[in-house]
Amino acid sequence: MRHDEQVRLIKELCAQIDGGTTVDAGGFRRLPTSDYTDPALAEREWQEFFLNGPQCVGLSGDLPEPGSFLTNNDLGLPILATRDHEGTLKAFVNSCRHRGAVVETEERGTKQRFACPFHGWVYDGGGALVGLPKAEHFGAVDSACLGLRPLPAEERHGLLFVHPDPHGTINLDHLLGEWFNDEFPTWHFDELQVLTRDAYEIVSNWKLAMDTFGETYHFSVLHRNTLFNGFHGNVQCYAEHEHLHRMILCKREIDAMRLLPEEDWDITVAGLPVYWIFPNVILMPFEPGCFLVRTYPDRHDPTRHLSRVGFYVKPGLGENDPEVKALLSTLAEKFAEIIRDEDYVMSASQQTAANAGALDYIIFGRNEPALHHYHNTYRTMLGIEELPLHDAETVTAITPD
Ligand code: FES
Ligand SMILES: [Fe+2]
Repeated sequence: MRHDEQVRLIKELCAQIDGGTTVDAGGFRRLPTSDYTDPALAEREWQEFFLNGPQCVGLSGDLPEPGSFLTNNDLGLPILATRDHEGTLKAFVNSCRHRGAVVETEERGTKQRFACPFHGWVYDGGGALVGLPKAEHFGAVDSACLGLRPLPAEERHGLLFVHPDPHGTINLDHLLGEWFNDEFPTWHFDELQVLTRDAYEIVSNWKLAMDTFGETYHFSVLHRNTLFNGFHGNVQCYAEHEHLHRMILCKREIDAMRLLPEEDWDITVAGLPVYWIFPNVILMPFEPGCFLVRTYPDRHDPTRHLSRVGFYVKPGLGENDPEVKALLSTLAEKFAEIIRDEDYVMSASQQTAANAGALDYIIFGRNEPALHHYHNTYRTMLGIEELPLHDAETVTAITPD
């Protein structure tokens, strides 16, 4: 992020702290709780958002060298992503062209060749069929036409994108917009290395998991013994453009940093940037690296989802310093614990009530603008009427006991 932008944002955070103010969405919006339970809606979002668009399958550090691979089954379709011998991201349907068995069953690793466990057909990192046992008995086939089925793939700013539809197109100019395409290179996500990866199966809709990242109003209550020690709750910068939004959460270190000359100000000391890549990806760059959160619906049950949390660090950080390494690991563990044991416990609690039809609507407050924007973006993209803005009187009047 450009330094003048960092200074501007830090001044805005300071102004909120000093003035006792926060961001203001200008009113309330009500969301039907059925958005978290409706199977028909879940099917539409699955088709539109998860099968009909490029998906982030990790950061460049997840495929650290030529020959690296990862597999992904989060989208129903078995996917194999590789970094080929030239270092280019490639992706394929992870299904053997003989009789369809999943070719690579490991989650990740390094391989020059992928041998199908059924009859031993062999593919290279570029997906080409390079081995067919007992070819003289199997019969003559044109192996040039029987490579793994390619999927569109693109690596940009250190993010790995794969489209689960072989005929799909990836348009990262649109997905990331001019805004994120300008700002992401300044974070050098492409240089980061994986420190930890976690995956949680949570009994909540995937959007409820996303929602927990959408405000800091809850820090002083839910996170009073954890995050609230390091963050000013209910203080944040917020900006949106089209389907994108970015929040800057406010760290308590801002209190000391603001006393320094402006040229020494650093947004990763004063705050925590939170970038939302619609619909299911959140990137949080901070001093040692970045957190990447991705949430995936359960294809068959809108009340469950899978969250993936990755912690990436700058190259070599802690490599020769066990103390730094231990500190980073503790940081990653603590962050993952907070998400799993505090935020997602609330998501599951909200889901229980939504499943029971306890309330027809929930309310997004004036200080939760990311939630307004996220859910209205979601609805607009599905052709559903936007949630209207209400003032205090109308929101009460239309939300009866
Ligand atoms: S299904 Fe893969 S070799 Fe037969
Ligand atoms: Fe939280």
